[in-house]
Amino acid sequence: MGEHKDLMQAREMLAAARQVVVMSGAGISAESGVPTFRGAGGLWREFRAEDLATPEAFGRDPLLVWEWYRYRRQIVAPCEPNPAHLALVALEERVDDFTLITQNVDGLHRRAGSRRVLEIHGNMFLIRCTGCGRERMVWDDDFSLPPRCEACGELERPGVVWFGESLPADVMMAAEEALVQADLFLIVGTSGLVYPAAGLLHLVDRKRCGSLLINLDPTPQSGAVDLALHGKAGELLPALLEDSA
Ligand code: OAD
Repeated sequence: MGEHKDLMQAREMLAAARQVVVMSGAGISAESGVPTFRGAGGLWREFRAEDLATPEAFGRDPLLVWEWYRYRRQIVAPCEPNPAHLALVALEERVDDFTLITQNVDGLHRRAGSRRVLEIHGNMFLIRCTGCGRERMVWDDDFSLPPRCEACGELERPGVVWFGESLPADVMMAAEEALVQADLFLIVGTSGLVYPAAGLLHLVDRKRCGSLLINLDPTPQSGAVDLALHGKAGELLPALLEDSA
């Protein structure tokens, strides 16, 4: 009963919102078959982040880091967007103003059809030269490791943000500007443990902007939002959009 009431309330919040900002994390892609980082089956249960997702790790052993990204690219490549990704595409079409901030590097929001997407942790299919900064999107894995820049010959790296690195300033500024304007902030599928992404909730003006959270398990942010729904994003997000047009 309580769950039904919460879903009804969340639908009403969504129906009333005109300027919506969504922030997604790995949980939204879980039902597509992409592993999350924390929790059961999470990548950080099996691998050590400091060995694979830091600039120091890349400096020490670029081949090892590249092999890990190739492994992840090969997991993600055949995955398809799920009903949660598609619900956000529908939401973007429905509201006046929409921004999707994602911590995910899997590119599934864009593949689903979302247009205004801010990839604050980069994209695992992007390759960037450590020398001249040239970037290229590469969808297949038909290159030898570690790849080198055709323009300057320097080592290339995955176009993602690693621990200890700053998030792209222009992308973060766009995210913050969208949040200041928002009248609803929806957080989906993130443990809410990694900053600065987790800190975006503190930027919303609680007097004018409602906050909703959808996650399989309760997170530290569950008690900090106006309403938290716990369950699968692929079920709850489509349910949230029903009757809210
Ligand atoms: P996490 O793995 O930390 O958290 C994923 C969350 O999704 C967990 O709280 C799960 O309960 C939830 N979840 C799992 N399946 C779900 C489902 N079907 N529906 C809804 N929720 C589900 O992933 P993130 O919060 O995205 O950073 O991690 C944040 C950052 O830490 C990542 O971007 C990455 C990582 O290290 C970098 O690589 C810089």
